[in-house]
Amino acid sequence: MCGIVGYLGSKKTKDILLDGLQELEYRGYDSAGIAVLQNDDFSVYKAVGKLINLQEKASSFDPTGFAVGIGHTRWATHGKPTELNAHPHLGECSYVVHNGIIENYAVLKQTLQKNGAKFLSQTDTEVIVHLFEKELKSSASAFDAFTKTVSQLHGSFAILLVTKSEDKTIFFAKQGSPMIIGKDADSEKYFASSDTPLIGRCSEVIYLDDGDYGYVTPDEIAIFDKDSKKKTPYFSKLSTNKLSAQKSGFRFFMEKEIYEQSEVIVDTLTGRITDKEIHFEELDSRLFEGINEIKLCACGTSYHAALASSYLFERYAKIRVSVEIASEFRYKEPLLCKDTLFVVISQSGETADTLETLKMAKKAGLKTLVVCNVDNSSMVRLADASLLTRAGIEKGVASTKAFATQLVVLWMLSLYLAKIKSSLSSDEIARQISLLREVPGLLKIKEELHEKITRLSKRYLHGHGFFFIGRDVFYPLALEGALKLKEISYLHAEGYPSGEMKHGPIALADPELFTIALLPRHMLYEKNKSNVEELSARDSTICAISPVEFDKADDYVKTSDVKDYMLEFFEMMVIVQLLSMEIAIRLGNDVDMPRNLAKSVTVE
Ligand code: M6R
Repeated sequence: MCGIVGYLGSKKTKDILLDGLQELEYRGYDSAGIAVLQNDDFSVYKAVGKLINLQEKASSFDPTGFAVGIGHTRWATHGKPTELNAHPHLGECSYVVHNGIIENYAVLKQTLQKNGAKFLSQTDTEVIVHLFEKELKSSASAFDAFTKTVSQLHGSFAILLVTKSEDKTIFFAKQGSPMIIGKDADSEKYFASSDTPLIGRCSEVIYLDDGDYGYVTPDEIAIFDKDSKKKTPYFSKLSTNKLSAQKSGFRFFMEKEIYEQSEVIVDTLTGRITDKEIHFEELDSRLFEGINEIKLCACGTSYHAALASSYLFERYAKIRVSVEIASEFRYKEPLLCKDTLFVVISQSGETADTLETLKMAKKAGLKTLVVCNVDNSSMVRLADASLLTRAGIEKGVASTKAFATQLVVLWMLSLYLAKIKSSLSSDEIARQISLLREVPGLLKIKEELHEKITRLSKRYLHGHGFFFIGRDVFYPLALEGALKLKEISYLHAEGYPSGEMKHGPIALADPELFTIALLPRHMLYEKNKSNVEELSARDSTICAISPVEFDKADDYVKTSDVKDYMLEFFEMMVIVQLLSMEIAIRLGNDVDMPRNLAKSVTVE
């Protein structure tokens, strides 16, 4: 949930740490901090709120020559977003940064306090540094003390620790939270909790595995596995393309990412479709042998993609599908049968709840597949097979292009399976593939459309709530539209199946209840229309999104006359994304970093 960086070398340490944190700020911006160790002396800066506050505080700090530095940007879990709770956390002579949760911190803290340790913060993280210093007193070396410390921690963590007695070393440990070591052309070493801070600086990286710990000095990278066996560092090449991680003239990353959807879907499709079939190089069709059910599991937007695809799997591949919210699934003592293919969907591949369900499925001996945007993420490394969505780096906290690409991959997967099961004719598969080819074109946003949505947005800044409604795959799309609006505008919004409104929520209808009605021509148009008419009759304010003019609507956004409901789906998806964004912009919100949220939820 938080972001971590580290560096040992003679370049501009402060700039390297702050630039790295800038790349990770989207992961948490309750506070940020850096600690730099040079000539036996620590310089530490911390600030509450966005990184700019830390940059200002540290503006006159300019270390030159060799230094060792660690930095952190925080999304608060234990303890309020205050400066005292900001990382790095101090013991007597050491500092630590941590991402994740130390589950047994309360017990450890009690024991440490009894031994005289003085805690300054309310965080779970602070126990690490006090525990280390306690162990240091009775250990042969700092590494020995660090090893003993890590062995006592339960939970998920990525940790960097620096200490005065070893002033040319960074100690690290990884368990359940991502951590990467990078090396630049001068063989100087870097750390980061994702690869973005390293792009442009490092040419090679090591993706640490769960259970790995060790230390890095100017001359050595020492990695030990969970059984304390020394590992040979394995370097992978790092991409050099940073351009895609910048805003390219758009007001917000979210806006850039909405506009990018057309291009990234070309990438998602590339090499995976011929005129007649879906081809996934990454998949061995034996994965589906003996499979009678698919269980899709995810959180947030990825859950909506899962739910939408469940209609396609049943409709096209004629296979039983269940869809689970990961945070619920992990505690419901689910019955897991070996004829079920367990599929997790995640943009980041690091979401704690989803990752845990994947571990459960693996433990139960199920075959597993992940649909993910981040190669080398924890889920990709854990699952039996993976399909990458190829959306590129998604920086906006509100997910957009990740959703679009997930849906395309899952749609393709339903056709891939339909072919294996002979549940669709080859003509129908070919027709579906021709539809897939049309998606990128449909996602090119016309200026008039965006202008219309911007104009419209000014009428939707108040009210007592929004209902996004739709049927079939447009119901998960309604859920997604409502989630987008909630996340960035802070207005109350719900997604609902159109036909379900009359079973309760219609009681809320009045002119201050805004209904965003998804009315595709090719999916239950008449049924949907009567549900919207029922709301219109009760004076709810209606914004209809449809290719068919709808005279009962107060506002109307016209979509193209395309030939299939899935094409309507993608066009409507862009409209709800843009509408949410324009409302949030008018309300003056920071669309890319909405309050209380973080990009990747690596804690429970
Ligand atoms: O990285 P994941 O796809 O696993 O993330 C799941 C959710 O946390 C994520 O989709 C979240 O709901 C987004 N903020 C939605 O915009």
